[in-house]
Amino acid sequence: MNVPLIIEGKQPLSGEIEVSPAKNAVLPVMVASLLTKEPVTIENVPRLRDIEVLLDLLAHLGTRYAWEGRSLHLHTPEILRTDAPYELVSKMRASFIVLGALLARTGEGSVSMPGGCAFGPRPVDLHVKALRKIGAEVNEEGGTFFARRARAFRGRVVFDIPTVGGTEQVMLATALGDGEVTIVNAAQEPEVEDLGRFLTMLGATVVGAGTSQVYIRGARALGGGRHRVIPDRIEAGTYLLAAAATRGRVTLQNANPHHLDALLDKLAESGHRILFGQDWIQLEATAEPRPFNLEAREYPGFPTDLQPVATAYLATVPGVSLVSDRVYPDRFTHVGELARMGAELSLKDHVLAVRGHKLHGAEVRAFDIRAGGALVVAALAAEGESVIAGTEHLERGYEALEAKLRALGARTRRAEPLVQDAAD
Ligand code: UD1
Repeated sequence: MNVPLIIEGKQPLSGEIEVSPAKNAVLPVMVASLLTKEPVTIENVPRLRDIEVLLDLLAHLGTRYAWEGRSLHLHTPEILRTDAPYELVSKMRASFIVLGALLARTGEGSVSMPGGCAFGPRPVDLHVKALRKIGAEVNEEGGTFFARRARAFRGRVVFDIPTVGGTEQVMLATALGDGEVTIVNAAQEPEVEDLGRFLTMLGATVVGAGTSQVYIRGARALGGGRHRVIPDRIEAGTYLLAAAATRGRVTLQNANPHHLDALLDKLAESGHRILFGQDWIQLEATAEPRPFNLEAREYPGFPTDLQPVATAYLATVPGVSLVSDRVYPDRFTHVGELARMGAELSLKDHVLAVRGHKLHGAEVRAFDIRAGGALVVAALAAEGESVIAGTEHLERGYEALEAKLRALGARTRRAEPLVQDAAD
């Protein structure tokens, strides 16, 4: 529902919530289910718009699916179509990796150029280059990529920069069939490692997923099985930053602290008290936090998806912090909106200087998922009421956002939807 979210700020968050499973881990695992004729069950899947979007695409390709509570059953006895059309792919960039799965399962596939969050150029050239390198013919025509497996996928892919989707693309393409591929300078994100675990469970040989070098040997046929994905480190990070911004005390259950090393280190540097166990994290905020500088980079560096949210937090911290993003140097769609809430921000040569002080409520708009997360954090810390529009972005990535915020004592409500006068 695209109804603005109203947050009355200045309430320190307090309490305990459970982190949802990682959207960015569920999506590639769902795509990987295309590789097998056998049924697959993904346990504990977050109910998010992005998941629904990918389900529509999988159903188009021939997947039958059913929900059982939070478990998602997926079954693709045969691929009915090998095209992923624009109206399905344009909503979410992550869907581009169905190309690799289609190539593996049928030897061909066509996928429209992807859409997704609009925060600067997000090309797919590295995906295409890698697929060509291992033995696919790929042509682009009218905004659609047509690919065909010319021979068994073999060789070494050396990525110019570590790309999460590109690494997953090659893993999917190779896991089924006679292929044998080594990826060098692979993305090391926990979500890639999780996909490796899933493909191994299906019967492929995957060594090194989650490190910079991944070896994949395909299997002639893959089996089925059940999989439980990792916790959402970006959602967890958002709530930790919200706790810090409101000077609160929050405990997260089902959180993996080791996936958040870079953030936890910064929060500790800022003066907050962090405790954690194997699957929980607690933040007790200091009343007098210190600023810090951050540069978002690939894992295990500071995640780009938390850069906007951390910027919102830093806008509440007295002093000057410098923020830059090596992964998406133009990822600053949240800056103009944060300024409406009184944040003092100046952007020069891709470096954002944040001079923190008190924020006030305002009417703002989220332009993508994590810019939305940033506005929520700023609104929670601000004096007075904020009205956040563009909530469809929040629904793509934050499961049960309002319920979780309210469980932590936040005051939130939805704006009244506009009622059309029936006589008009
Ligand atoms: C994934 C995440 C996204 C996150 C991003 C970076 C999912 C579904 N999405 O996106 O939330 O922000 O990782 O951590 O997991 N690049 C190219 N050419 C390509 C591919 C990528 O130049 O063909 C560049 C991108 O512009 C970017 C960098 O590589 O600068 C990393 O992007 P990538 O890791 O591919 O991001 P996604 O997989 O799209």
